[in-house]
Amino acid sequence: MSSPSPNPPALLEADQLGKRYRVGGAFTRAGRREVQAVDAVSFKVWPGETLGLVGESGCGKSTLARCLVRLHDSTSGTLRFEGRDITRLSGQALREIRPRLQMVFQDPYSSLNPRRRVGDLLAEPLRVHTRRSPAEVAERVRELAALVGLRPEQLERFPHEFSGGQRQRIGIARALALEPRLVVADEPVSALDVSIQAQIVNLLADLQERLGLTYVFIAHDLSVVRQVSTRTAVMVLGAIVESGPTDQLYARPAHPYTAALLAAVPVPRPSRGGAKVRPMLVGDPPDPANPPVGCRFSPRCPAATDRCREVRPPLWAIAPDHWVACHHPLD
Ligand SMILES: Nc1ncnc2c1ncn2[C@@H]1O[C@H](COP(=O)(O)OP(=O)(O)OP(=O)(O)O)[C@@H](O)[C@H]1O
Ligand code: SF4
Ligand SMILES: [Mg+2]
Repeated sequence: MSSPSPNPPALLEADQLGKRYRVGGAFTRAGRREVQAVDAVSFKVWPGETLGLVGESGCGKSTLARCLVRLHDSTSGTLRFEGRDITRLSGQALREIRPRLQMVFQDPYSSLNPRRRVGDLLAEPLRVHTRRSPAEVAERVRELAALVGLRPEQLERFPHEFSGGQRQRIGIARALALEPRLVVADEPVSALDVSIQAQIVNLLADLQERLGLTYVFIAHDLSVVRQVSTRTAVMVLGAIVESGPTDQLYARPAHPYTAALLAAVPVPRPSRGGAKVRPMLVGDPPDPANPPVGCRFSPRCPAATDRCREVRPPLWAIAPDHWVACHHPLD
């Protein structure tokens, strides 16, 4: 995938990035199996934009997210950040880039130590990664709290004393503590009530504008991603099957899987001519340890042909910056 405007340079670039897990052990009857959780994923993220990443459960979103921020090592391909190859960085060199590449998790509670006060949780990355004095750390913690809409007295409380939405504010503040350039948000609102989701989405948008942040925003449903992202990429079984400018992808999905996902999103009733019939998503996704030979979506695709079942379609450009991996894309 590429962009028509290569200037300024991409902030993050994944090139054929892959992550393979070994599953099962010597004692299982099936023996060792491998799951290609992320399979040759390529994309660029431009400074200041939000790239939305969607796909159903188990398609590899979290694995990709963790590879992007180098919490996991990828097993193939290349990852560039700020123009530098960071695929195999380790030790001090990795610690140096960590502050600029941060992650917000779906369930902030599991990533927040329940025995530490919130002020302490926000201070921790500052103590580890910066040389700020205790007074400067305290000042920055107050600043972070204000940034995400927490009151100073709430810094004395423990994570369990907060609601889900407030806990996500703490998770966001922690991710922002070291002034990152890129934030990968892995389903940051999926665990929240719908009314609270909007608050967190708005907060992230506001922070992006104020701090010049770049986001990779992951969700399993398209409607949230539509609100926040400039470009959207759709994943099936570890691979990107369609990507493009969000408006274009939503108005004219080219991949049957994207169209099926969109069919689950309520659309306004057209004034005349009736709704365009879109294929529904039926059937379970294939076993990731035993993916189809051809198109990853072929077992569930209403338009599948023999060619689809035999030959895996590559990503190709059907319009400027609109890419699809399908032998028979939709009009
Ligand atoms: N540590 C691991 N060891 C082995 N397999 C793993 C591991 N983590 C993930 N997987 C497998 O990799 C695939 C992708 O999982 P991942 O959690 O990245 O998907 P996801 O899209 O984030 O799903 P969800 O929407 O449910 O969060 C799945 O088949 C999963 O079982
Ligand atoms: S390549 Fe074939 S099976 Fe795959 S999405 Fe396109 S039409 Fe469907
Ligand atoms: Mg996940």
